Amino acid sequence: MPEVAYVNGRVVPLARARVSVEDRGFQFGDGVYELIRSYQGRLFRVPEHIARLQRSAAAINLPLPLAPEALRAAIDRLYQRGGFPDGQIYVQLTRGVAPRQHLPPDEPAPTLVMTARALGPVPEGDRTQGVAVITMPDIRWGRCDIKSINLLPNILMKQQARRAGAYEAVLLRDGRVTEGTSSNLFVVEQGRLHTPPQGPEILGGITRDDVLALARQLRLEVLEAPVPEGLLRVAPEVFLTATTVGLLPVTRIDGVPVGSGEPGEITKLLVAEFRQLTGSSP
Ligand SMILES: Cc1ncc(COP(=O)(O)O)c(C=O)c1O
Repeated sequence: MPEVAYVNGRVVPLARARVSVEDRGFQFGDGVYELIRSYQGRLFRVPEHIARLQRSAAAINLPLPLAPEALRAAIDRLYQRGGFPDGQIYVQLTRGVAPRQHLPPDEPAPTLVMTARALGPVPEGDRTQGVAVITMPDIRWGRCDIKSINLLPNILMKQQARRAGAYEAVLLRDGRVTEGTSSNLFVVEQGRLHTPPQGPEILGGITRDDVLALARQLRLEVLEAPVPEGLLRVAPEVFLTATTVGLLPVTRIDGVPVGSGEPGEITKLLVAEFRQLTGSSP
């Protein structure tokens, strides 16, 4: 099956997809995005992703060029054309093409680009043994709730994590944990699930919402409240969530084992529940 792209209403092979060098996304990172995935032939949580795209776009004063229903139809069509059972649809909305100056035109013509491609499984060891993370100061801006295509700090911090042999960087701001560079963070302590609250310091993850709902169904106590760095360092269970990876146990932080150094029981339970929810293989 070919990798395909959608550019302002036209579907073309990915290799032939083009936007202008004067696109403000390219020149300024002036845009927002979503990443939607499919499990075994079914797109997952599309309305939630479209709603978040709308919120991000509204936060940067950019109207969506399509009504949500029309965007949904375009996403479905592109996914069908791509034909990847386990795939990812990347959706990017920018303020469009304009002569380069900071001040945007009063009436921008937004560029909407989407790509469809396959998404390989998470290495099984990452799920069963967990991943290592390092902590770093959160150097990002004050509106991390906007899913902006400006990802330079995230990229630099992820690169530093990988250079340190870690999967992800967990970010700290004023003694609190915020999130990962491309994931939300949960801590389990005394059977309670802790995660930082929604607000400008984190992206409100779609997977995060699913995990919170699952935890409540399981009658686990859930605390959406600031997570002090100290709690991260003593918690017996820590895990990350993101669309691309689902739930990933964290078993080392800055080289120190989390709890026993193995994924904990509550994490494993939530991993299993999430797999059931998505219909992904056990
Ligand atoms: C900074 C950040 N936080 C959290 C997430 C997880 O969000 P979601 O579960 O919606 O993929 C992402 C995903 O890309 C992210 O980039």
